[in-house]
Amino acid sequence: MERYLAPSILSADFTHLGDDILAVQRCGAKILHFDVMDGWFVPSISFGLPVLKSIRPLTDMFYDVHLMVQDAERFVDDFADAGADGITVHAEACTHLDRVLDEIHGRGLKTGVALNPATSLSVLDYVYDKADMVLLMTVNPGFGGQKLIPVVLEKIRTLRAILDERGLSTHIEVDGGVHEETIDSVLEAGANVIVAGSAVFKGNIEENYRRLEAYL
Ligand code: DX5
Ligand code: ZN
Repeated sequence: MERYLAPSILSADFTHLGDDILAVQRCGAKILHFDVMDGWFVPSISFGLPVLKSIRPLTDMFYDVHLMVQDAERFVDDFADAGADGITVHAEACTHLDRVLDEIHGRGLKTGVALNPATSLSVLDYVYDKADMVLLMTVNPGFGGQKLIPVVLEKIRTLRAILDERGLSTHIEVDGGVHEETIDSVLEAGANVIVAGSAVFKGNIEENYRRLEAYL
């Protein structure tokens, strides 16, 4: 499967967010990861619709919106209208996961189901056919710059084996604590969409991106 680096703007410099986004696009990034945090499902608040709307005209990169939001089904239309290309919702935060995935597809977007580190893969049992991507959190969500939780590597391997067995080409995205020392382990386990926030945006963006991209 094709491998992608998906820079998370959570760690970008918001005094010149547009420049940072264009910097990763110049490096060849195809996906931009957009971490929405509501201060309820996760213990922090990040950004939302006005920021997405304002950056949409900047690039044609795939805007991969990660809703760390309680009852995220309330916001599918808003994020679709604001320019999302894909919406990932947390299985732990949606009462009606099957329905919200249909709603995302209904807006012509790609779907994603996110699982926190402690959440079992069994929550996916009845939605494999509706998930274009599964996001396995490699940290407990809420902050950038955290340490990858090693036990999730086994979870990635198990999920890749299930997908292969079912003949599914579902993307496996990982998010949190991925940098030069850990990217090999998540790729080897079977992830193919790699979110990196601080490892890309802290310091020299072009150099950071190129260094990480070399592992793909
Ligand atoms: C949830 C967020 C972070 C962020 C990546 O906490 O989703 O994981 O995207 O953070 P880094 O790459 O800085 O660990
Ligand atoms: Zn994320």
